[in-house]
Order: sequence, then structure tokens, then C-alpha cells
Amino acid sequence: MYPASRLILAFVLICLSNINAMAAESRLKLLMSSMKAGPEDVICFQCHSDLVDRVNYIHYPTGIGACSYCHIARPDHLEGENPPGSVTINRTAENCYVCHDRKDEGPIKHSAMNGAESCLRCHNAHSSYTRYLLNSDSVLGLCTGCHNIRISGKSQHGPVFKGQTCILCHTPHSGTEKKLLRKPSKQLCLSCHNKDIKATMNDSRIIPNIQQKLTMSHIHPGAEGNCLDCHTPHTSANKRLLVAPWSTNIYNLYSETNNPYAICFTCHDSSMLRPSDFVTATQFRDDPKKINLHWFHVVDAVGNEDKTRGRACKICHDPHGAPQTHDINSVWFMNTSPITLEYQAFSSGGQCTKSCHTLKTYQRL
Ligand code: HEC
Ligand code: HEC
Ligand code: HEC
Ligand code: HEC
Ligand code: HEC
Ligand code: HEC
Ligand code: HEC
Ligand code: HEC
Ligand code: HEC
Ligand code: HEC
Repeated sequence: MYPASRLILAFVLICLSNINAMAAESRLKLLMSSMKAGPEDVICFQCHSDLVDRVNYIHYPTGIGACSYCHIARPDHLEGENPPGSVTINRTAENCYVCHDRKDEGPIKHSAMNGAESCLRCHNAHSSYTRYLLNSDSVLGLCTGCHNIRISGKSQHGPVFKGQTCILCHTPHSGTEKKLLRKPSKQLCLSCHNKDIKATMNDSRIIPNIQQKLTMSHIHPGAEGNCLDCHTPHTSANKRLLVAPWSTNIYNLYSETNNPYAICFTCHDSSMLRPSDFVTATQFRDDPKKINLHWFHVVDAVGNEDKTRGRACKICHDPHGAPQTHDINSVWFMNTSPITLEYQAFSSGGQCTKSCHTLKTYQRL
């Protein structure tokens, strides 16, 4: 007996291949409405009901018992025997593409998509406990089965480990961006960091809206490029997912060998903090008093005996953008209390007031 559903199926597929111009997903819908299990398919479940028992997600053609899209069974198989060749298994990606959109056409292709039977590395053709018919109990488990993503370190990025995880940022198949990113990286970062976010991973602060900082009147030139110049996307040995060390404290002991602001000096020259270099290394200096004001605030701790009270860069500057000239904040936070800072630049110096001291002026000659 030749399976009748095979003939119906062949007919439907021939009809559909004539309307190839039709969008693949509506093709899928049409296929769903015409897809039926033939009589010989129905009896498959008599012996193979375990394929759809106790699972959360069932692949549509398997669920309706239309096994013959992927298998052809000979009559002797239907009698419960399984001699070699009594039933075929089509494992190819090409067979999946009979119904689905191609997944391999993006210029950047995941290596896991190589090979004729690639889909089965990640998908089960019948059913799964996991959404998208994955071969694993989570996306994270699937991806980290092949990729060694560090999970330790001083900071961990929430979306890597929570919710949809890896596929929030990467496509698993192919795409147009390097590293299979769903969008160019800066756009990707700002698609989430366009609002305040309550942190849960490393502490419970409110993470400010970074996109809004990038619309302020003074954007840090270092943040006009790529976020990845300073940040890593998954985890980091440094605070705040930074590529180099950074202390989040507002007071620190500064030393060139154990630099609490090393991230800044991946681009800037740390001689700006040397007292002897006050004439050339920085604009933040007072020539009449022969004093390098960066050294004075950050290293010397404003004349304080206790050098661990050196001021952090972030009291005065924001690494992304700020409302005052030279990327100066208008407010900073002592624990959670806001302290305002009023700065004004002149062609030969500047002045600052409100926060730490009464009005002080510096002058370059
Ligand atoms: C979309 C294609 C597809 C459909 C539809 C499908 N199968 Fe499969 N089946 C496969 C593939 C591919 C394998 C091989 C899996 C592997 O090697 O990892 C397979 C393997 C099997 C196996 C071997 C054991 C196992 O679980 O791997 C059985 C039994 C089986 N299918 C029965 C069925 C029955 C019965 C139906 C209909 C109710 C069905 N299949 C529907 C693609 C399909
Ligand atoms: C009367 C019972 C019975 C029926 C009906 C039956 N099978 Fe099977 N099938 C078996 C047995 C037994 C095996 C071998 C053990 C196993 O893999 O479960 C098997 C194995 C298979 C395999 C794996 C073959 C391999 O080489 O690994 C596939 C695929 C399969 N069946 C598909 C089907 C499809 C499709 C139908 C319906 C068209 C069907 N079976 C109907 C009993 C049956
Ligand atoms: C006979 C047509 C057909 C074939 C062949 C087929 N599929 Fe499907 N697949 C469907 C239909 C229909 C759906 C349900 C789509 C829906 O609900 O919108 C589906 C759903 C899926 C889904 C889940 C989509 C989701 O959003 O959760 C995945 C993953 C999938 N198929 C992978 C595969 C893979 C891998 C193969 C090859 C091994 C394959 N399919 C072969 C018709 C097919
Ligand atoms: C590296 C693992 C991996 C491989 C290989 C893979 N997939 Fe997927 N696939 C996924 C994951 C994860 C998702 C869910 C995320 C998404 O939708 O982008 C998915 C989603 C899907 C979906 C549903 C959503 C959509 O995009 O339509 C279909 C259909 C699908 N895959 C088919 C295939 C086919 C066909 C192949 C082989 C050509 C394949 N996949 C190879 C991991 C993989
Ligand atoms: C079956 C193994 C396998 C699985 C599962 C797998 N990958 Fe891959 N992936 C590879 C291989 C092999 C490469 C190429 C070698 C490399 O760059 O490490 C690769 C490369 C990548 C790349 C780098 C691409 C580039 O252009 O440099 C990304 C990103 C990636 N995979 C993400 C994922 C995500 C996300 C998942 C889960 C949805 C996943 N992979 C699941 C094997 C796998
Ligand atoms: C928040 C977005 C985001 C999430 C979530 C994410 N990644 Fe990435 N991933 C990236 C970015 C951005 C890059 C590119 C880094 C670069 O170019 O320096 C990347 C790069 C990669 C690479 C290429 C090798 C490398 O380290 O540069 C692999 C492999 C990878 N990711 C796998 C994964 C896996 C597996 C997961 C889930 C555990 C995951 N990613 C989750 C954004 C993300
Ligand atoms: C020049 C280096 C640099 C660049 C470029 C950069 N950042 Fe940052 N980012 C930092 C530093 C330093 C911190 C720590 C600030 C602090 O402790 O107050 C930080 C902190 C963050 C935080 C946490 C903020 C908080 O207070 O909790 C987020 C989110 C962030 N950056 C996102 C981004 C995004 C998105 C981009 C790209 C648009 C980007 N960063 C570009 C240096 C940079
Ligand atoms: C899918 C949304 C999403 C994307 C895309 C995303 N982030 Fe995040 N990011 C978050 C969330 C949510 C948190 C807070 C996680 C938590 O603590 O629970 C966070 C936290 C951070 C932090 C603070 C980490 C710390 O130390 O607490 C930094 C820095 C950061 N993201 C930078 C980036 C950069 C750079 C990119 C682009 C490569 C990016 N983010 C892309 C959602 C996202
Ligand atoms: C990826 C490179 C890069 C990193 C890292 C970096 N910057 Fe910059 N920064 C620049 C560039 C480029 C300029 C503009 C040229 C210049 O002044 O050197 C600049 C200028 C500045 C300015 C002067 C802005 C003005 O309008 O006068 C300040 C203040 C500043 N950076 C602070 C910092 C701080 C604080 C850090 C560490 C959190 C840091 N930068 C890290 C690239 C970077
Ligand atoms: C007490 C506030 C304050 C602190 C703390 C501070 N800065 Fe500045 N910084 C300024 C002021 C004010 C200017 C503008 C000087 C001018 O052009 O008149 C400036 C200018 C700069 C410039 C532009 C080049 C230059 O030297 O004039 C860079 C780069 C810079 N700061 C980086 C840093 C880094 C890195 C740290 C931490 C190690 C830091 N600043 C700490 C107030 C501060």
C-alpha cells in the first residue's frame, strides 16, 4: 500500500512551489491549513505516542501526526518491525526549508549552521520542553553547551543570564552584524539603556538612562564612538562591565601602579595627575599658585593628611555626557544625597562653587 497522504502532500508542495513569490510565513500558514495526516500516519502514534507525551511544545506537523513530511515507512514497519531501511529519516536542513524561511542567507552565518543536518544541533523535530523546540532546557544551556561564557567576575550583565538571555542580543542563525548581533552594537546597547533600570545583579541601585546622557550639551568625546571601547558585553573582572579597572567609590587612594581609574588612562595620559607637570599636563591648574588641580583633588586629596580621601573623577565628570562645559556634572551623589556643582569655564581658567567649597577660581597664564 503506497501512503496516500504522501500523494496529497506532494500535490500541495507542487502547488505551493508555484507560488514561491509568496512570503514564506504566509506560505507556512497556508500549508498548515492544508496539512493533514494520512491514514497510515495516524497509526504511527499507536507505537510512537512518547514523541508528544508530557512535553510543552509540539512541532506542528508532528502534533497532527503528519510524519510523512520527514519519514516514509514501508508496510512491514507498520506491523511493528524495524528492519534496516523499513523507515526513512530526512534530517536535512533543506527539508526544514520546504516549510520554513531560509535561515542561512545573512552574510554573517553562525558556524553551528554549517553542514547538511545543522538544524538538529539545536532543534528537536518532534517536541520539546523548551520554547522554539530547543534540544536543551534553556537558551542559556543550549549556547553555553558550545560556548564558554565566563560567569564569574566583579560584574555580570543582567540580560546575559536572565529572561531570553543570549538571543536578546544574538541571532542563532545568520544576520547582517558582526558577532551575529541583532543590531549594530551601540544601537543594541541603547535599545535597553534608553531608560532608568533597577539593578538586580551586582547591587540594587538605579542605573541611569544612558541615552539621555548622550543628548546632554556636553558629551564625553570618548563616548561618541562605541560603548565597547570601554565596556564588555557579558561579564568583566572589573566593576560596571568595564574593560579596565574602575572604583565606584567617591574617595580613593590614587597610585599609578594600582590605579582606581585605569579605564580613563586607556586613552588619557596619567601625567595629568603629576604635581610637577602642572604647566603642560592639564588645563585644570592654577598658574599663579603653581598647582595642578587634578593632582590636588585626586592625588593629594585637597591637602588632606588622609590620602585615601582623593576625589574620584566621577564626582566632577560623567564618562558619557554631562550638562556643563568640559563634561562636568551639575550634581553628584554622596551615598544617595544629591550635591549640586556649579561650574563656569573662562578662556584662561574657570570657577566652581556650591558643592565642596565656596566660589574658587583658577587661572592659566
Ligand atoms: C519535521 C520532520 C519530522 C517530522 C514531522 C517527524 N519526524 Fe520523526 N524524526 C525526524 C528527524 C530529523 C529524526 C532524527 C532525529 C535525530 O537523529 O536526532 C526523527 C527521528 C524519529 C524517530 C527515532 C527516535 C527519535 O525520537 O529520534 C522516531 C521513532 C520518529 N522520528 C517517529 C516519528 C513519528 C511517529 C512522527 C509523526 C508523529 C514523526 N517522527 C514526525 C523528523 C521528523
Ligand atoms: C506497530 C508499531 C509501530 C508502528 C505502527 C510504527 N512504528 Fe516506527 N518503530 C517501531 C519500532 C518497534 C521501532 C524501533 C524501536 C524504536 O525506535 O522505537 C520503530 C522505529 C521507528 C523509527 C526510527 C528508525 C531508525 O532507524 O532509528 C522511525 C523514524 C519510525 N519508527 C517512524 C514511524 C512512522 C513515521 C510510523 C507511521 C508511518 C511508524 N513508525 C509506525 C514500531 C512502530
Ligand atoms: C511540513 C512543514 C514543516 C517542516 C518540514 C518543518 N516544519 Fe517547523 N513548523 C511548521 C509549522 C506549521 C510550525 C508552526 C508555525 C506556527 O505555529 O506559526 C512549525 C514550527 C517550528 C518551530 C517553532 C517556531 C516557534 O515560533 O516556536 C521551529 C523551531 C521549527 N518549526 C523548526 C523546524 C525544523 C528544525 C525543521 C526541520 C527539522 C522543521 N521545522 C521542519 C512546519 C514545518
Ligand atoms: C545554534 C543553534 C541553532 C541552530 C543551529 C538552528 N537554530 Fe533555529 N533557533 C534557535 C534558537 C535559539 C531560536 C529562538 C530564537 C530566535 O527565534 O531567533 C530558533 C528559532 C527558530 C525558528 C522559529 C523562529 C523563526 O526565526 O522563524 C525556526 C523556524 C528555526 N529556528 C528553524 C531552524 C532551522 C530550519 C535550522 C537549520 C537550518 C535552525 N533553526 C538551526 C537555535 C538554532
Ligand atoms: C553546536 C555548537 C554550537 C552551539 C549550540 C552554539 N554555537 Fe555559537 N558558535 C559555534 C562555533 C563552532 C562558532 C565559531 C567558532 C567561534 O567563533 O567560537 C560559533 C560562533 C558564535 C559567535 C561568534 C560569531 C562571530 O562572528 O565571531 C556567536 C556570537 C555565537 N556563536 C553565539 C551563539 C549563541 C547565542 C548560541 C545559542 C543560541 C550559540 N552560539 C550556540 C558553535 C555553537
Ligand atoms: C546584552 C547583549 C548580549 C547578550 C545578552 C549576550 N551577548 Fe554575546 N556578545 C555581545 C556583544 C556586543 C558581542 C561583541 C563583543 C565584541 O565585538 O567585542 C558579543 C560577542 C559574543 C561572542 C563572540 C566571542 C566574543 O566573546 O567576543 C560569543 C561566542 C557570544 N557573544 C556568545 C554569547 C552567549 C552564549 C550568550 C548567552 C550566554 C551571549 N553571548 C549573550 C552581546 C551580548
Ligand atoms: C569612555 C568610556 C566609556 C564609554 C565609551 C561608555 N561608558 Fe558606560 N561607563 C563608563 C564608566 C567609567 C562607568 C562607571 C560610572 C560610574 O561609576 O559612575 C560606566 C557606567 C555605565 C553604566 C552603569 C551606570 C551606573 O551608574 O550604574 C551603563 C548602563 C553604561 N555605562 C552603559 C554604556 C553605554 C550604553 C555606552 C555606549 C552608548 C557606554 N556606556 C559607553 C565608561 C564608558
Ligand atoms: C536586552 C536589554 C539590554 C541590552 C541590549 C543591554 N543591556 Fe546593559 N543592562 C541591562 C539590564 C536589565 C541591566 C541591569 C541588570 C541587573 O543588574 O539586573 C544592565 C546593566 C548594565 C550595566 C551595569 C552593570 C553593573 O555593573 O551593574 C552596564 C555597564 C551595561 N548594562 C552596559 C551595556 C552595554 C555596553 C550594552 C551593549 C553592549 C548593553 N548594556 C546592552 C539590559 C541591557
Ligand atoms: C576610548 C577613549 C577614552 C576613554 C577610555 C576616556 N576618554 Fe576622555 N576623552 C577621550 C577623547 C578622544 C577626548 C577628546 C580629546 C582629549 O581631550 O583628549 C576626551 C576628553 C575628555 C575630557 C575633556 C572634555 C572637554 O570637553 O574638555 C574629559 C573631562 C574626559 N575625557 C574625561 C574622561 C574620564 C573621567 C575618563 C574615565 C572615566 C575618560 N575620559 C576615559 C577619549 C576617552
Ligand atoms: C574636582 C573636579 C575634578 C576631578 C575630581 C577631576 N577632574 Fe578632570 N577636569 C576638571 C575640570 C574643571 C576640567 C577643565 C579644565 C579646564 O579646561 O579649565 C577638567 C578637565 C579634564 C580633562 C581635559 C584635559 C585636561 O586635563 O584639562 C580630562 C581628560 C580630565 N579632566 C580627566 C579627568 C580624570 C581622568 C579624572 C580622574 C582621575 C578627573 N579628570 C578628575 C575637574 C575635575
